[in-house]
Amino acid sequence: MKKTIVAMLALTVFAGTAFGADVIEMKRGVKFNHKAHQELLKDCSKCHEKGPGKIEGFGKDWAHKNCKGCHADMKKGPTSCKECHK
Ligand code: HEC
Ligand code: HEC
Ligand code: HEC
Repeated sequence: MKKTIVAMLALTVFAGTAFGADVIEMKRGVKFNHKAHQELLKDCSKCHEKGPGKIEGFGKDWAHKNCKGCHADMKKGPTSCKECHK
């Protein structure tokens, strides 16, 4: 019984690291709902070209190009400063 619980906990922790944080707090008050985007977009490579994990060169330029760019393309999601920067 105890062993099962330990195994289940280990699995949960593993899944947690493989999928990343649910909500990532970014600079200037941006709250990025990672989990919602994963579920919505299904495809990790939309943002992780080189596989899951930290994104090389992530920051203002990446975000304004990719986050805002996709919202504009899909006509869904915030595109104005204060919708992202609370
Ligand atoms: C809409 C964009 C987007 C999608 C889709 C996405 N991610 Fe992420 N992910 C990010 C961003 C942004 C970060 C933070 C990057 C940084 O700080 O370098 C991140 C970070 C991570 C991390 C690093 C750990 C962490 O919590 O900081 C992992 C692991 C990860 N993502 C896995 C995934 C997996 C697996 C999928 C697909 C099921 C996925 N991501 C889909 C944008 C996305
Ligand atoms: C490949 C497309 C795509 C990318 C890349 C993307 N988003 Fe989104 N995002 C969406 C869509 C589609 C919605 C609208 C969801 C809805 O209305 O149901 C959305 C909604 C949002 C919302 C409002 C809802 C919520 O989850 O709070 C915020 C804030 C947001 N995105 C921030 C970001 C940030 C920050 C990034 C970059 C780190 C990002 N998005 C990257 C497609 C994307
Ligand atoms: C789709 C969401 C989104 C929109 C719209 C957006 N930003 Fe950003 N912005 C971000 C993200 C995400 C970052 C990177 C945060 C990080 O590096 O942690 C960022 C970074 C920044 C930074 C750099 C912060 C720092 O300390 O490095 C500034 C300045 C900024 N944005 C201003 C603006 C202005 C002005 C607008 C409107 C013209 C705007 N942003 C629109 C999501 C957005």
